[in-house]
Amino acid sequence: MMKSLAIIGSQWGDEGKGKITDLLSLKSDVVVRYQGGNNAGHTIIVEDKKVVLHLIPSGILHDHCASVIGHGVVFDPEAFEKEVEKVRASGITITPEKLKISGNCTVITMYNKLLDGQRESKGPVKIGTTGKGIGPAYEDKVSRKGIKLKDLLNYDILLEKLSANLMEKECLFKNLYDCQYPSAKEEAQRLFELGKIVEPFITDTFSFLDQCKKEDKKILFEGAQGILLDIDYGSYPFVTSSSTSFGGIYTGAGMPGGSVDEVLGITKAYTTRVGEGPFPTELFSELGESIQKKGNEFGATTGRKRRCGWLDLPLLKYAVKSSNLTSIALTKLDVLCDIEGLKICTKYKYEGREIDCAYPGIDLSKVEPILEDVTTFSDDFKSELSPAINTYIKRIEDALEIPVGILAYGPERSEIKFLKEFL
Ligand code: GDP
Ligand code: IMO
Ligand code: MG
Repeated sequence: MMKSLAIIGSQWGDEGKGKITDLLSLKSDVVVRYQGGNNAGHTIIVEDKKVVLHLIPSGILHDHCASVIGHGVVFDPEAFEKEVEKVRASGITITPEKLKISGNCTVITMYNKLLDGQRESKGPVKIGTTGKGIGPAYEDKVSRKGIKLKDLLNYDILLEKLSANLMEKECLFKNLYDCQYPSAKEEAQRLFELGKIVEPFITDTFSFLDQCKKEDKKILFEGAQGILLDIDYGSYPFVTSSSTSFGGIYTGAGMPGGSVDEVLGITKAYTTRVGEGPFPTELFSELGESIQKKGNEFGATTGRKRRCGWLDLPLLKYAVKSSNLTSIALTKLDVLCDIEGLKICTKYKYEGREIDCAYPGIDLSKVEPILEDVTTFSDDFKSELSPAINTYIKRIEDALEIPVGILAYGPERSEIKFLKEFL
């Protein structure tokens, strides 16, 4: 019997991970976020209310479920305070019993947010980040200058670490970017106050998860972003700064190898991308715009329009391999209903040959997608599936060599069909 399941975005994010995590949380004891930060935007529709979670795991909507923020997450305490307020205002309870945050999360400081903004507006390469300071916070962590969440609880330690952290950055703020920035003392005071709000939630999440495993609890790992935004596997440099693929769980959640039974790749029935970077099947036509409108494709974090294109099998095959996906959930099928001229990308022409699977380092801006026509389907998903949609699904399963386990056909909790059992 499946005891633990990872939910991972298999494209460029916004595949509908929040909705699927919320539904599978019903059967889980624990939901864990292990990477990323409040660059994520996971939307869940509960009755007629919309809840968007950025930092807090989607399990929070269920009182029986513990939610864990593992040490691989970069944590903005100010964003956390605001999110807690907003989520509580929609009638959801958040208590230290329900939410456990690792004291070893790296804190996103004001300096990180400032640097992200300055680089995007004045630097030579615009990534189209969410502007939340994610990249600079991960840089601090890797260069061993990071502020850890537990540091917020001791003012003297915090001030000392922030002063060291600011030394190099001050040069950039003063001489390169010519921008205002808070002194180490001001930042220490701000973070120390915020630390008091986070303190009750700080837990040794490593031991908590270890205990959950011993007690045979059902654990769900909620990925943020998607495999194509992974720092190693993604379309570098147009990626985020964490390991969004399966590997991120081992380091970011604090669960040793062998702890995950199945990996569910959340896959939009077409492709979207927010921010800059190559996108082989992007549609620049009116059709692309109508999919964008019909799918309400606006970023849940920044409100930017999402770029839209056809489903890209060479990228998906690559995603399956790079995260060992065992099945996929196909979402937003309703958006593709009745679309005339429906297509799917089956191969690329690249450097004079045809390939059917992408690989790390491939220059996606130079591939030419080979598109296949697909029969239009018009399913209402209440009655039996039409032969046309079954053919679309089968085409995907044949290429990926793993089953489609879930079909989602609307934002509501009820708009889902399980073709396979999970947890
Ligand atoms: P996430 O980041 O992967 O959790 O996805 P987002 O929440 O950013 O974006 C997915 C959007 O699609 C949200 O607005 C969801 O409410 C919505 N959604 C999820 N599944 C479906 C679906 O099957 N059909 C439609 N039409 N909308 C969906
Ligand atoms: P969820 O979890 C879609 C994109 C940004 C940008 C790049 C780097 O909702 O699927 P960052 O701020 O992380 O340094 O930005 O990554 N990006 C996302 N795109 N969904 C997300 O999260 C994203 N999080 C980051 O648009 O291109
Ligand atoms: Mg999102």
